[in-house]
Amino acid sequence: MKRIPIAVALLALAAPFASAQIDDLTVRVPHETLDKRAPVGDEAMGAAGPRGLITQEVYRERRLRLLNHMRDNGFSAAVIFNETRNSPSGGPDRSGLDFYYLTGIEHEPGAALLLDPDADQYLEALFLPMLDVEDHVWHGERSALGRELELSTGFARVRRLGSLPGALASAILTGESNKAVFLGPVVGYSSPVPNQLQVLRDATSRIPGASVGLDREILPAMRQAKDKHEVELTRRAIANTMAGLGEGMKLVEPGMTEFELRTIIEMAFHEAGSRRLAFGSIVGSGPNSCVLHYRGEHDHRVMNDGELVLCDVGAEVENYAADITRTFPISGTFTPRQREVYNVVLRAADEAIAAIRPGVTFAELNDIARGVIEEAGYTDDMKHGLGHFLGLYVHDAGNYHLPLTPGTIITIEPGLYLSDENIGIRIEDDVLVTEDGYEVLTRGLPRTADEIEAFMAGGE
Ligand code: GLY
Ligand code: MN
Ligand code: MN
Repeated sequence: MKRIPIAVALLALAAPFASAQIDDLTVRVPHETLDKRAPVGDEAMGAAGPRGLITQEVYRERRLRLLNHMRDNGFSAAVIFNETRNSPSGGPDRSGLDFYYLTGIEHEPGAALLLDPDADQYLEALFLPMLDVEDHVWHGERSALGRELELSTGFARVRRLGSLPGALASAILTGESNKAVFLGPVVGYSSPVPNQLQVLRDATSRIPGASVGLDREILPAMRQAKDKHEVELTRRAIANTMAGLGEGMKLVEPGMTEFELRTIIEMAFHEAGSRRLAFGSIVGSGPNSCVLHYRGEHDHRVMNDGELVLCDVGAEVENYAADITRTFPISGTFTPRQREVYNVVLRAADEAIAAIRPGVTFAELNDIARGVIEEAGYTDDMKHGLGHFLGLYVHDAGNYHLPLTPGTIITIEPGLYLSDENIGIRIEDDVLVTEDGYEVLTRGLPRTADEIEAFMAGGE
């Protein structure tokens, strides 16, 4: 692990930013002076940077597309932070994943990306948190600034966060418009001001004539249109989730608790290769099938013959999420009434899915599904929206008011919740919008009442 003295690091900071050409990563000379202290932990821990299916080149191409967009729209600087927030419903909300989408870098909370399309050639620089001299004892080694870090991150310019304000000021000053751009979502006034907006405001307030513009559409649009690697990672997450639901359907029996069933499903995700869940699993039986976000901390209930269990679960692969719901009978056989309600939800899902193609809107799909449900005599019983974007994080970024475009992955998840009858049914599938229609990515998992009964009876 390379460590460099502070004097060398300061010299590096003082060096003017050169261009961030795609192919200039190898021109920098590695620092010669190394700290000889024995490293703590696996050396790879120190190397921030993409390690999975999506390569540095893909991340860099995304940044270049964003830089082009900024240049074309007269914006001179943007900063994107690696921010994670807590979601209001508990669990981690990884929706602040723009930084990850543009860099492939995880585990550097607080890090920042600076983009400057007006530099001689496009400039992109990465700013990492300061190293604490004792941190390696607790968290293992991290790389010092230098070529090793540049190669592992794919950035020709890696600095510490302390130099971000100066670099941001020069990025704004080099622009013709002196206009920085806020790329995040606009949040209500009861939420804290996002870091990204705060630093832009601080920087522009010191430069007469400078201002902050807003573009909250570009990153959701980029993230919504999945490339082939993103689709592949989502397929893997879906395959692992289907394996878990298959195990659950095979092994469930009266007398088992919801917790036991959830554990069977989640263990199968991990056995299939997923390191993490995409969100907290929902496994609710009987009356609990009607609780939309029923959570694991309550799931002591013993499941009985004659009841349904609703399993809304998702495994994750390299930060790409699956999100699938199946509702099945504990005994393996639906009652006639359960089957009747199930078939209404299934028809709503089928008709909405059949309408998916480029150009259709979420609102149109929603109307189709709700139309089926209302026609069957249910009005207030589908209490949630029809679906959402899926990808990096379970409720992925995207523009809900625009027509769908090829490469978008969405969920279709109608439901009916009849709490008087202890019948809660949701059927959720993940669907890719293709050039001329759609592909159901969750196909192959038992879905109709007959398929579920046959599968639970030991058939396929
Ligand atoms: N699992 C949460 C959702 O379906 O949106
Ligand atoms: Mn779900
Ligand atoms: Mn969902």
